[in-house]
Amino acid sequence: MKTMLISTLWLALCAMTAEGKTEVSREPFGKMPDGTPVEIFTLTSGNVEARIMTYGAILVSLKAPDRKGRLANIVLGYDTLAPYIANNQSDKPAYFGAIIGRYANRIANGKFTLEGKQYSVPINNGKNSLHGGPNGFYNVLWKAKPIADGVELSYLSKDGEAGYPGNLAVTVRYTLVGDALQIAYSATTDKPTVVNLTNHSYWNLAGRGNPSILDHQLTLRASRFTPADSGLIPTGELRAVQSTPLDFRQTARIGERIDASYEQLKFGQGYDHNWALDGEAGTLREAAELYEPGSGRVLEVLTTEPGIQFYSGNFLDGSPYPRRSALCLETQHFPDSPNHPDFPSTELKPGQGFQSVTVFRFSTR
Ligand code: GLA
Repeated sequence: MKTMLISTLWLALCAMTAEGKTEVSREPFGKMPDGTPVEIFTLTSGNVEARIMTYGAILVSLKAPDRKGRLANIVLGYDTLAPYIANNQSDKPAYFGAIIGRYANRIANGKFTLEGKQYSVPINNGKNSLHGGPNGFYNVLWKAKPIADGVELSYLSKDGEAGYPGNLAVTVRYTLVGDALQIAYSATTDKPTVVNLTNHSYWNLAGRGNPSILDHQLTLRASRFTPADSGLIPTGELRAVQSTPLDFRQTARIGERIDASYEQLKFGQGYDHNWALDGEAGTLREAAELYEPGSGRVLEVLTTEPGIQFYSGNFLDGSPYPRRSALCLETQHFPDSPNHPDFPSTELKPGQGFQSVTVFRFSTR
């Protein structure tokens, strides 16, 4: 009887796989320093596999085939929990694979005014606040449950946490359908607040551990970017990319102009800027395409967000991954928006729902 049940279940599972359904499984992935268990979810669809853990809602690995069908993990990270915690709690976290909030990217001097009230948020990057401060969403434990094709993670950021107003209930759904990993973000608040959410995965399409992304080819669907000061805070200008080393409207090798003598590149020590995406924010549209000629792997990024931070891994320092050995494509609202009324608004009011979708699609050519 028991054998029959098991074989029936097995057949059902095989049938689902044959139909191209996504398998979702969950396992323990170590414990937090206080003993709270951490889990990891594995999403499998065909030969693409994504693993997401409840600490930091981190994308721990993403396996995809090259043009010969050979699989490799194409995101940076670690094989166990402890080094993620150590890195996230260090002076200079890399934010490997994590969900970033409440405010992805920078807020100038850690200050902003909302409805006439001034707020101070933690300063952790020169004079500025970066990625929600030291206890941002990348460094908290999320609740999780399996859903169709994926995992749903949720976190309640309390009123006043890291200086931000309002109880913010955040949900992040990672789903893998066919060869596309979708991240759908939603949030609600009980007081006016600001919110900017992203995923901070580092991609190397030749596989994690390969030494450089300078030969990757990038296309960005953006005619303008937001120039920044030496602390990477936008000046408020929206500048045309035309005739600058930030023009990726035509596909270009990343290494081609990364060290050009252009002030913006000096400030970022390479690429670390926000591009204002073409097309209408709020609609899912092509933002970026990354191609690695050796493996043939292609990553397409689609998003509903108005901007994308292309960061060329300039601050990776060899512990353990070398400088520029991976790059981030962080879909987002513009940095420091709370201090730039002209930028697309990051304010969220009670009764409104924050929604945002980003898709990472994998293929080869
Ligand atoms: C973001 C920032 C970079 C850097 C990395 C983490 O992408 O824009 O300047 O701080 O995070 O090293």
